[in-house]
Amino acid sequence: MKKLKMGMVGGGIGAFIGEVHRKAARLDGGADIVAGAFDIDPEKSLEQGRNLGLDPKRVYRTSDEMIAGELALPKEERIDFVSICTPNHTHFPIAKAFLEAGFNVMCEKPMTLTVAQAEELAELVKKTKLTFGLMHTYTGYPMVKLARDMVKAGDLGKIRKVVVQYPQGWLYKPTGKENMQADWRTDPKRSGRAGCMGDIGTHAANLAEFVTGLRITEVLADLTSFVKGRKVDDDGNVLFHMEKGAKGVLTASQIAPGEENDLHIWVYGEKKALCWYQENPNYLRVFDQEAPEEVWKRGNGYIAAKSAAAARCTRTPNGHPEAFLEAFANNYKNFCDTIRARAAKRKPTALELDFPGIIDGVRGMKFIDAVCDSSEQGNIWKKID
Ligand code: NAI
Repeated sequence: MKKLKMGMVGGGIGAFIGEVHRKAARLDGGADIVAGAFDIDPEKSLEQGRNLGLDPKRVYRTSDEMIAGELALPKEERIDFVSICTPNHTHFPIAKAFLEAGFNVMCEKPMTLTVAQAEELAELVKKTKLTFGLMHTYTGYPMVKLARDMVKAGDLGKIRKVVVQYPQGWLYKPTGKENMQADWRTDPKRSGRAGCMGDIGTHAANLAEFVTGLRITEVLADLTSFVKGRKVDDDGNVLFHMEKGAKGVLTASQIAPGEENDLHIWVYGEKKALCWYQENPNYLRVFDQEAPEEVWKRGNGYIAAKSAAAARCTRTPNGHPEAFLEAFANNYKNFCDTIRARAAKRKPTALELDFPGIIDGVRGMKFIDAVCDSSEQGNIWKKID
């Protein structure tokens, strides 16, 4: 296996998700970080590069400097992909610049600030034929892949209803500049039009579409900024319709005291139902009106028979839990295998292509626009094409 060279933009000292990306990409030994522009403050970028023990020549003051520096290297020494772990407003210009320079991209969500930007990136990915991943973490969990494959196999019957909830509590009171994660997330110039709905509502919507294989076609939303003076929503309730007549409810909140990361999904079909819970992610519950509840457990031999994708994304034996880092690592594993396949002029397999990407990014931005429009225009139904 060729070890891929990873570059990173963002993920400076004190940042949240960059370090998760670095650890996850390295988990299977298939990639290692060699370069980066880690911080909005150039001096801090250099300091982070020293902390990570990188070659100082590969630690850059800005992402533009990084592109120029990497392009100046012989092709075989350059990074194979860049991971963009910066606040939302910077994703589009940085991703665009790296794609135009010929680099594969793993980008954080929400993908851009506007639908138009998302569509422009999608065109660019199509034109360049480069590999683009979007870090919708939760579709990386093996039991979520199992849920998707059960629905696909028809085990639940026709899907009638989806309930997805995502409550957090960490923004329940006003925050200041000292909380760097809250600071940009509550500023529409940097977070985008939506707050909570962009930050975690998009994960919930992506999960609903991933597990059911059905797209959300219209939404009716009621978004609120409960904390006085906050310029973006910190709570929202959404009714939604999906393809093939399925209906659903999505609720996301960042002002629910005591809630940590309580993402839950229930899918109800004509025959059976299922439930997956992010804080206890190694188990998938399946319900039947006429029979006892089943609990499918990660790491057991019977999983592979139902979901090759889940089995491929499992590292430790049953009873030895895997979670958040491994979910990131699973998205990286498939993303990196796809890059390797394409570099070897081989068509990636369906299992290798099983990671969220540019289409999810465009759908996420359309979801944000539709829920914001719906709420602002008096809680009316808004279509998503
Ligand atoms: P953060 O505020 O902790 O870190 C952002 C980092 O980016 C900082 O080091 C900052 O200095 C750096 N930065 C900002 N502009 C830059 C630029 N132009 N060039 C280089 N570095 C720059 O933010 P956090 O929480 O890590 O979020 C980053 C992104 O990750 C966001 O888009 C967020 O939505 C997403 N995220 C995704 C999660 C997931 O589960 N997939 C979880 C948490 C965050």
